[in-house]
Amino acid sequence: MSTVRSVSPGGTARKPVTLPELAARKRAGEPVVMVTAYDHPSARAAEDAGVDIVLVGDSGAMTVLGMESTVAVELDEMLVLARAARRGLRTPLLVVDLPFGSTEVSDAQAVTSALRLVKEAGADAVKLEGGGPERISRVRAILAAGIPVMGHVGLTPQTATALGGYRAQGRDAAAAARIVAEARALQEAGCFSVVLEAIPSELTELLVPQLADTLVIGIGAGPATDGQVLVFHDLLGIREGKGAKFVQRYADLQDAMTDGVRRYAEDVRSRAYPAPEHGYGMPAEELERLRTLL
Ligand code: KIV
Repeated sequence: MSTVRSVSPGGTARKPVTLPELAARKRAGEPVVMVTAYDHPSARAAEDAGVDIVLVGDSGAMTVLGMESTVAVELDEMLVLARAARRGLRTPLLVVDLPFGSTEVSDAQAVTSALRLVKEAGADAVKLEGGGPERISRVRAILAAGIPVMGHVGLTPQTATALGGYRAQGRDAAAAARIVAEARALQEAGCFSVVLEAIPSELTELLVPQLADTLVIGIGAGPATDGQVLVFHDLLGIREGKGAKFVQRYADLQDAMTDGVRRYAEDVRSRAYPAPEHGYGMPAEELERLRTLL
């Protein structure tokens, strides 16, 4: 079994990322890097690339489980993904999404779900979408159980239907003011971090100075945040289509994977694979004995 390396890209040993360290990074104005991961290989890539926070996002419902949206993914499925990611990580802070349906019933349900992510998958923190009064109640309950919480406002995919689909949020003053109020409420409730998704860059610029006590991570929220997050499969091109406007693609792995499998299939069909060097040998005398046995 492979061991998890904990060496920074510069070659020095890295210590596990802590909440006080992230707060210090914010104060120092040093951008924080966050990426999603859903299994051992993606977590290993994040570890080895030296990212600060890994999110086992419920986006995994779509990126790795092939679902149409994030709504259907179950807590038990998130646990499988999170455990695999945990095994690939040593240094980044591991945040796991509380999926739709795992917090909606009551504060007690939310605490039970968050505890499972911590105890059964080794999450360091959980993420919860939304910032309305009922969500704030859930955040307070989870925090009271001793589990750090990351908030998430703007485009919140679990309730995308109610928001009019997967589109930028807060583009008029009233909607923008609601996002400001929600983000401030999450900070006040004690979230160590808040994700701002798909909101105008101007809104982020106005909002971030009001969020001095929480780490602000953006995705499609412009450059004014304390850090950025992207979905692993989006940034590496492990998907069909271009994805959202804010995605910057750093590789085209879907094409590379398809090409590799296509060449393998061609080699099998033409009998170019396996070649002699891929086979195991048998001592000549053993082969001779076998012939006499058959
Ligand atoms: O599920 C997810 O990947 C997320 C990020 C987009 C922040 O919530």
